[in-house]
Amino acid sequence: MCGIVGAVAQRNVQGILREGLLRLEYRGYDSAGMVVRGTDGRLQRRRALGKVAALEEKLEASPLTGHSGIAHTRWATHGRPSEENAHPHQSGERLAVVHNGIIENHEALRAELESADYDFTSQTDTEVIAHLIEREARAVDLLTAVQTVIARLDGAYALGVIHANEPDVVIGARKGSPLVVGVGIEEAFLASDPLALLQVTDRFIYLEEGDVVRLSAGGGIEVFDASGQVVEREIQTFEHGDGSASKGDYRHFMLKEIHEQPAVIAETLEGRLGDRSVLVESFGPGAEALFSRAAQIHLVACGTSYHAGLVARYWLERYAGIPVQVEVASEYRYRQVVVPENTLFVTLSQSGETADTLAALRFAKKSGYLGSLAICNVPGSSLARESDLTLMTRAGPEIGVASTKAFTTQLTALMLLTLALGRVHGQDEEEQASLVEALRRLPAQVERVLALDAQIEDLSTAFAEKHHALFLGRGAHFPVALEGALKLKEISYIHAEAYPAGELKHGPLALVDSDMPVVSVAPNDELLDKLKSNLQEVRARGGELFVFADEGVGLSSDDGIRVLHLPPIEEALAPILYTLPLQLLSYHVAVLKGTDVDQPRNLAKSVTVE
Ligand code: AGP
Repeated sequence: MCGIVGAVAQRNVQGILREGLLRLEYRGYDSAGMVVRGTDGRLQRRRALGKVAALEEKLEASPLTGHSGIAHTRWATHGRPSEENAHPHQSGERLAVVHNGIIENHEALRAELESADYDFTSQTDTEVIAHLIEREARAVDLLTAVQTVIARLDGAYALGVIHANEPDVVIGARKGSPLVVGVGIEEAFLASDPLALLQVTDRFIYLEEGDVVRLSAGGGIEVFDASGQVVEREIQTFEHGDGSASKGDYRHFMLKEIHEQPAVIAETLEGRLGDRSVLVESFGPGAEALFSRAAQIHLVACGTSYHAGLVARYWLERYAGIPVQVEVASEYRYRQVVVPENTLFVTLSQSGETADTLAALRFAKKSGYLGSLAICNVPGSSLARESDLTLMTRAGPEIGVASTKAFTTQLTALMLLTLALGRVHGQDEEEQASLVEALRRLPAQVERVLALDAQIEDLSTAFAEKHHALFLGRGAHFPVALEGALKLKEISYIHAEAYPAGELKHGPLALVDSDMPVVSVAPNDELLDKLKSNLQEVRARGGELFVFADEGVGLSSDDGIRVLHLPPIEEALAPILYTLPLQLLSYHVAVLKGTDVDQPRNLAKSVTVE
């Protein structure tokens, strides 16, 4: 969601904060702001509506100078996007706060502060935090003031706080929203995502729930736990290379990330495949014992990650023989879930910080599950740290809001999970060996599909003027269709729906006419003949079909149907391969429509609020 950066440095911090905001902009981008404590001891603030570029213009016209500061890029929750609602929020001239998350009791706190004559200048929930800390800090130091105030906050927060009276000090605090400390050389930094600080350090402390940190001059970093005790937190070196934060030769991060898929899928497989089977130890010590007891699986995630879970259900049931339930986290966490004995709880998340998924994990840990496994892309994320087992997807930072490489690496990891569970539950050895071989060939096959880019771009012209589209698939390709529809709507703003092709005649067929493009994936699998009949139903109603089909299935372009052939692939891995043309199609449609591909309207990369 929103992004936080903070710094206490020997140099002027404006450049560090500005670069951090640019790197975080993908998370939230409706307004941005910065406060620096000047060498004269005064807080100087600049804020702007819109992207970080708008703030940069203001900074260029009127630069900030100082050795400590905080900055923020916003994704609106309380109060529309505007300069007044942009962070940092100040209480008077001496105290400033940046905040990610939601303060649920802000109305009561606001009423209390208003009756104490505090004036509010924004509609945000954050402003109450600024006034509360300002009031406390009249009598105590800033650290104590923050510790006192957070005890009164209900909800989720990551905070950065600065006070004019305390030179070269920034206080950070977290509960429910991620916050990391960057360890520099005699400098210290704060951010909601390590990516924001990779230009200044690759060493990080991942703050834990309830932690408060005091950054001070000379690289001072003191961490206090929820009970106020000083604690040592491990310093970890960031694993991803910084190259991921630049677009390289690509026009958009999304396109770059689509083309990274062969490499990151290979990375995700690296060291996890034996000669004829998956190495169960890849899931961590204790995985084999846990997996052998797993009698069923509950799989919980949001958005694209949820779609990956839906694909995995077909795989886990077919190849490992284990019953699976898949559910979106925001529903799961409020349901009276019945947990059968020996159920493994699996979460999927690119960021590892999605509020609903994290809340679901915390609920599950109290609900009698056998154990928890997180399949996640961000090392050190809350989900990875709080789960019993983790399998990292190694996609590298994904900057485009529309998830692409995170999805296909999740699918790759889920196939590894399928085979690991299959192995301990007696899957046929030949079947396992042949799927392992298929996984080894996968990166090269992905490469071949990406080479069809120009032909897919050609198809995209048929969509640019449309207002609606239907996506169809069967079996494990129904979730692939769901993911294709999600991609199209989130970056091109074309309304798209996905259906299992067999469901068409139960209602959606009424929508089909020459204005409704219908996209389908047609791999060479046991449901092919049934899918072909469904496609005939569309053609018979004058619908315009766009089919991504295996070259061996006997479908070719004709009146009302355009077919693009994909190379043959093992049936089990087809959902990974057939995702790629749908990603490229959405990308090219969005480019034709001129939308903001990497930062589509109203969305944010990591949804750290409920
Ligand atoms: C999809 O393109 C979106 N980025 C979104 O649906 C995303 O998958 C969802 O918010 C879950 O995020 P996570 O994987 O980081 O938990």
